[in-house]
Parts: sequence; C-alpha cells; structure tokens
Amino acid sequence: MKAILENTLLGQLVAERPGRARVLERLGIDYYFGGQRTLKEACAAHSLDSEAVARALRASDTRQPDEEAKDWRQVSLSELIDHIITKHHAYLREMLPILSYLMDRVVHAHVGRHPELRLLLLEFEALRAELESHMGKEERVLFPLCERLEIDLRPDSPPRPALHLPIGVLEQEHREAGRALARMRELTRHFTPPGDACSAYRVLLKELADLEADLRQHIHKENNILYPRAIAAQAARTPRK
Ligand SMILES: [Fe+2]
Ligand SMILES: [Fe+2]
Repeated sequence: MKAILENTLLGQLVAERPGRARVLERLGIDYYFGGQRTLKEACAAHSLDSEAVARALRASDTRQPDEEAKDWRQVSLSELIDHIITKHHAYLREMLPILSYLMDRVVHAHVGRHPELRLLLLEFEALRAELESHMGKEERVLFPLCERLEIDLRPDSPPRPALHLPIGVLEQEHREAGRALARMRELTRHFTPPGDACSAYRVLLKELADLEADLRQHIHKENNILYPRAIAAQAARTPRK
C-alpha cells in the first residue's frame, strides 16, 4: 500500500480521495498544476520523507468523508461539467467584480505606504481578464464537445475536432493563472495584512486567499479528472482504421 501511494500520480491520489488535498496543501505540495508527478517525485523536490507523507495520507483516508468527497471520476461528464459551472465558474463570476471594486478602494487608500499594491492591482486585473475569457472558452467550446461524447451515439455523426488541442491551450492558461496567483501571494506576504491595514484591506486579502483555494479545487477537477476523462472517452469512440 505504501509503495502504491508513493508511486501514484498526485492528481490521481486526490481524484481517488478528495480529502487528501488538505494534507498535500498543508505541506505545500501542488497536486493541481503538478498532478502528473508521483508522490515520491514531489516529496523529493520538497525534501520531504515520502513514507511519512504516505502515512499522513492514509490517516486522512480513515477520517469521515466530507461533502467535497464525492468521487468525480464516477459521475457522468455532464454532471461533472454542471458542478464545475455551478460551483466554480459561478463563484468566479460573482467574486471577480467584487474583488475589483475592493482592490480599487484599498489601492487608492494605501498605495502611499504600500506601493506594491499597484503591482497587485495589475496582476489581479490581468488574472481576472484571463479567467473570464478562459471560462467562456470552456463553456462555449470544450464543455459542449465533452457533453456530446456521451449523448451523440450516431455512427455517422460528423467528425469531432481532436480534444487534445483545445485542452492543451486551456491547461497552458491554468498554468498562467497559477503563476499570477503565486506572484500575488508573494506581493502580499502570503496574503498577510500589514499592521496598518484597514478592514477593507483585511477582507481583500482573505478573499484573495479564498480565490486561490477555490481555483486549486477547480483546476484539479479539470486538469486531473475532466480533461483526461474526455480525451479517453473520445479515444474510445474513434473507430480504429
Ligand atoms: Fe473552469
Ligand atoms: Fe479551466
């Protein structure tokens, strides 16, 4: 069991038991962008004892599963897509404009003593534009193609575009969002408010930390579950020549 866990890809480890995400997050191990590494490789990169981490993961498996513990590998692609849109995309569409408003107020009030806030604003606005365009591409292009894989059973249905091309672009955009969040984390000293922060400043940093946490879950479900499942479903339907 120990060796199995250590040689399993991180994305797969969390797809099997979503509760494992918390253990990996506490250790600073990225399972969402870096889901294609084994636990052993990730532990080596962080100078962590992979046997101890595997033990911590097994201990978390025995705890009561929570609401988020649903196994998204077992539901239909359309149920998973529906969940991503109603939970993660809806959250972003609600929060991104609120964060823009809050950021403007905080920058205006505090930029004199905290000049790094100007960079934070630029970084956030670029991330917001990127995420809004990215969700549009998923909802208009990729998700409908994925849903058709399950419902269009006609043998003579028109040829479908290869999914790995749009998925490659979307995965690249996920990596860019990850880099923007890492820069924002650095500019805010891990989202820690300075001593002179007003309540709006504190709320802003708390909400940015929540945004990062939600994006981890969101990107994990797409990179490690939805996209590979869609590519496998398309491959299974493509007649061999
Ligand atoms: Fe998405
Ligand atoms: Fe995405």
